[in-house]
Amino acid sequence: MRMVSTENVEELLGKVLTCSSVLERAVAELYFALYSKTDDPIIALVFKKISLDSSSHASILEEVATITKLKRGDINCREFLAEQYSIVERAMSYLETKTKLSRGELRTAMEKLLLLENYVGEETYHRILIPLMAGFLPIQSNLLVELMNDIVEDEKFHEKAVKAVLETLTTESPAS
Ligand SMILES: [Fe+2]
Repeated sequence: MRMVSTENVEELLGKVLTCSSVLERAVAELYFALYSKTDDPIIALVFKKISLDSSSHASILEEVATITKLKRGDINCREFLAEQYSIVERAMSYLETKTKLSRGELRTAMEKLLLLENYVGEETYHRILIPLMAGFLPIQSNLLVELMNDIVEDEKFHEKAVKAVLETLTTESPAS
């Protein structure tokens, strides 16, 4: 049986951690764009909250990677993350073509670009992945684990919030 060496685990963990931070940064930008293009002030506020949390996650994950000496400067995260990253990129380029989003456009954007069938949203992806990463960190620290758990709690809220926004858009008739 072929064993995975510790070095390989750390190498992979470094890639995952580094690219998770890059993904959070991209998601922060995406939600900021959604925030600035959405007229409904409450929905916009939900997007702003997700954007702020995501940029905080990006910083925390990046620093965890640095502290644990796992950070990789040599990785192409766009390639490494593949579908995860390209969905965010496609959503971003769709948003760049719009100054404001109508409710219908917003719904389409969220359905098609963020909640595609079979697509695991970034929130779900990180909710599952982060506890795994925490378990394999070369420096075992309860404080580090707590910091990462806090990100997971935010992701749980994001999952719920995105679903609630989509539900609002689907069930409520447009006010204007
Ligand atoms: Fe996130």
